[in-house]
Amino acid sequence: MKVLIISNDSALHRQLAALCASHAPPLTLVAMRDGLQDATERLVNDTPQLVILDACDVGAGEAEMLERLTAQYPQASFMLLTANQSQDMLLRAMRAGVREVLALPLVAAAFDDALARIAQINGPASSRDGKVLAVISCKGGSGATFLAANLGYALATVGQKKVLLIDLNQQFGDAALYVSDKKPVMTLADICIQIARIDAPFLEASLLSVAPNFGILAASEDAASASHVKPEHIDTILRLARHSYDFIVLDIGRQIDAISIRALDNADLIYPVLQLALPDIRDGRRLLDIFRSLGYRRDNIRLIVNRYEKGGKLHLVDLESTLGADVVHTIPNDYVAVTDSVNQGVPLLQQSQNSAAAKSLVLLVEQIVERPAGDDGRILSRLFGKIFS
Ligand SMILES: Nc1ncnc2c1ncn2[C@@H]1O[C@H](COP(=O)(O)OP(=O)(O)OP(=O)(O)O)[C@@H](O)[C@H]1O
Ligand SMILES: [Mg+2]
Repeated sequence: MKVLIISNDSALHRQLAALCASHAPPLTLVAMRDGLQDATERLVNDTPQLVILDACDVGAGEAEMLERLTAQYPQASFMLLTANQSQDMLLRAMRAGVREVLALPLVAAAFDDALARIAQINGPASSRDGKVLAVISCKGGSGATFLAANLGYALATVGQKKVLLIDLNQQFGDAALYVSDKKPVMTLADICIQIARIDAPFLEASLLSVAPNFGILAASEDAASASHVKPEHIDTILRLARHSYDFIVLDIGRQIDAISIRALDNADLIYPVLQLALPDIRDGRRLLDIFRSLGYRRDNIRLIVNRYEKGGKLHLVDLESTLGADVVHTIPNDYVAVTDSVNQGVPLLQQSQNSAAAKSLVLLVEQIVERPAGDDGRILSRLFGKIFS
C-alpha cells in the first residue's frame, strides 16, 4: 500500500516510517508533506492509497482544506492522528471520509488494528457480499428519495461502509440533487446501453462521487432514455455491485412496473416509506398487498414512518395492525433542517448534524450495520471513544 504522511513533527515522521517499514506486507512511503496546505498544493503523482494526517496543528478553520484533500485522493483511505481534537473537527473529518482516528502518542498495536480494518474495507471485490436495500414511497412525497440519498451517505460516513445508491426513478429521478451539487456524467440508461462492457471499474467510473466511499448511479434523464433499461440489466448491475459494495441502496420511486419489480425481487430488505396519515396508510396497504402477491417475505419488509410527530390522532400500533407489518424506524418531522439540506443539495449529516432528523438517520444506520461479534458499542461512540474515553 502506498502511503502519504502529512505532519511537521519529525519524531512522528520517524515513528510512522518505522511502523510502515515493519508492517507485513511493508507499506511504501511515497511522499511526506508538512501540513494540510502543503498537501493540497503539492499533489503526489504516485497516488497514495493511505493518507496519514497528523491533525495536531490542524485548526478548526482548516476543515475545508481536509475536505479538499479527501476529494483530491478519492480512492485513498484517510487516517487522522490527534492528541485532543475538538468533536466538531472530528465530525467534519468523518464526514470528509476519514476512516480512522487514532490517539497520539501513537500506539503500534492501534496502528496495526486500524490498518487491518482499512485492508478489510478495501479488500478484494470478491470478498464483499453487499446487501440491497430498496426504499420505496407508499405515496408521492413521502420522503423516499430524501431517505435513500441520506441513508446512503450516512451508511458510508457514519457506518464506514462502501455504498452505492441507484436512482431507479424512470422519470423525474432526482436523488443525486439531494446530496450533491455536481451533475452526473453517466446515468443508469447510459450503463444499460453499454451493458456488455460492464465490470466493477466501469461501474465505479460511472458514478457521481459524493464521498470517498459513496457514489450514485443517477437516474435516466428522461422517459426515452429510460426505455433502454431492461429488467435483466437490473439483475446484472446488482449482481456485480454486490461484489464491490457493502450496501446498494435503491431509490425505487413510486411506480410498480417490470423494472421496479425486478429491483424489489433482488432486494434483501424493502423499506416502504410513509407518513402517518390516512391517504398514506391506504396506499401503503395497497403496496403491501402487492408485495404479498409477489411472495415477498413479511420479515423483509421494514416500514419507515417519515415526518413522524408524537401525540397525533393516529398511532404507530394502528398503522402496524392495518398494514400487517412492523414499523422499524421513525424519522421526525424536521422541516427546517431537511428543507435546508434538500434545497442546498448537501447531505443532512453534513448540513445539520445535530438536527433531530440527522440523529434519527444515525440510529437507523446503527440498526442496519451489523456489528462485529462482541462489539456492543454505538457507531459514533466507537469512532470517538478512542479519543474521548
Ligand atoms: N423528515 C422530514 N422532515 C421534514 N421534511 C421532510 C422530511 N422528509 C422529507 N421531507 C420533505 O418532503 C419532500 C418530499 O420528499 P422526497 O422527494 O424525498 O419524497 P419522495 O417520496 O421521493 O417523493 P416522490 O414520490 O415525488 O419521488 C422533500 O422536499 C423534503 O423537503
Ligand atoms: Mg422521489
